[in-house]
Amino acid sequence: MSISTSPHPPHLLSQKRFLSHPDLGPRTHITTSFRPISVKCASTPAQLHTQSAQPQAHSQERLFNFAAGPATLPESVLRRAQSELFLWRGSGMSVMEMSHRGKDFKSIIEKAEADLRTLLQIPSDYSVLFLQGGATTQFAAVPLNVCRSAADPVDYILTGSWSDKAFKEAQKYSKPNAIWSGKPEKYTKIPSFSDLQQNPDAKYLHICANETIHGVEYKTYPTPLNPDAVLVADMSSNFCSKPVDVSRFGIIYAGAQKNVGPSGVTIVIIRNDLIGEAQEITPVMLDYKIHADNNSLYNTPPCFGIYMCGLVFEDLLDQGGLAQVEKRNVEKAQILYNAIDRSNGFYRCPVEKSVRSLMNVPFTLEKPELEAEFIKEAAKENMVQLKGHRSVGGMRASIYNAMPLAGVQKLVSFMKDFQAKHA
Ligand SMILES: Cc1ncc(COP(=O)(O)O)c(C=O)c1O
Repeated sequence: MSISTSPHPPHLLSQKRFLSHPDLGPRTHITTSFRPISVKCASTPAQLHTQSAQPQAHSQERLFNFAAGPATLPESVLRRAQSELFLWRGSGMSVMEMSHRGKDFKSIIEKAEADLRTLLQIPSDYSVLFLQGGATTQFAAVPLNVCRSAADPVDYILTGSWSDKAFKEAQKYSKPNAIWSGKPEKYTKIPSFSDLQQNPDAKYLHICANETIHGVEYKTYPTPLNPDAVLVADMSSNFCSKPVDVSRFGIIYAGAQKNVGPSGVTIVIIRNDLIGEAQEITPVMLDYKIHADNNSLYNTPPCFGIYMCGLVFEDLLDQGGLAQVEKRNVEKAQILYNAIDRSNGFYRCPVEKSVRSLMNVPFTLEKPELEAEFIKEAAKENMVQLKGHRSVGGMRASIYNAMPLAGVQKLVSFMKDFQAKHA
């Protein structure tokens, strides 16, 4: 979608931010012959009570969720969505019920795009697409759209499991060359760009900007050797965590479920001249031109997810934009890495210091037999999802934008106590 609206369209600015709770009316008991199947919701009804729509620091009832994704979302966003769930503003219905072609949803998707453009200062010759299929679908969509045939060479830098998966998928639709792999060093590094043996004919150079599993993050970006090639980045796990010079990239793609919304939305930011020459075999749903020409509304989009992303973008703007967001992320990450580095080896982060992720912090315990105990004790203190990915083991604390500083402070204080008990 290429639009030039202001980030806050006046018709939305004039609306109230928080509407009062709709009156749901008295609960009625409905007798039915329907026999429930034996699937239970994890939450008991007692937990599902109505809360005020006012933002709060951190609800006592919410756990600190260190999951890698789906991940914690800003409380203010959740509360706002809650307050608008039943009736979206003056529309008389929920966002989940409205037509994706109606004016209300159009205003939602246009505002989401406009706010994202403001946040990332996306140049006007780039399109923003709200798609489905997760970042995994983009592993195929990128070569299908950028290569003219499966014989076209492309370069991949393998810094972890995700870039490796992208590389493997690209083998079906292009001739990818893994020009560097961090596998022998267990994916703890980013290569020096000057040492890369790039193919001068490669159509693009693909990187994963932040390896969610291994906690390795690019701090600067390589430039493709071929002047006609573009840099393509999977930014799923550090999207909108800091300012990025979008003009350095031909394509940026990201699944929403780490930093900017619920799973089900995949965002693609693509330079317009890369749109329109997809390989003939490209399925319609993977063709960027189809989505760009139809403003991401070629088929039914993930409406509610896009709405949620829009609320997150607005929240990030309210926080002062991505430079401010980055400052807070740096502060949180420093606190955690310092705690690890100053533990006299009780905790260790294997990643080279200069490329440690601000988002995903993997660490091991000197005594691996204590790992299960660590996770159990942390859970008792309302800190969950700290287990490392099954492929690497150890621990991993994902501290995305929405993880409050208090959550990191609490984790660090727990780590110190745990060490004192077990060292
Ligand atoms: C960096 C990265 N790329 C790709 C993916 C795959 O994303 P999806 O599950 O949305 O397909 C993930 C998922 O965690 C990821 O972290």
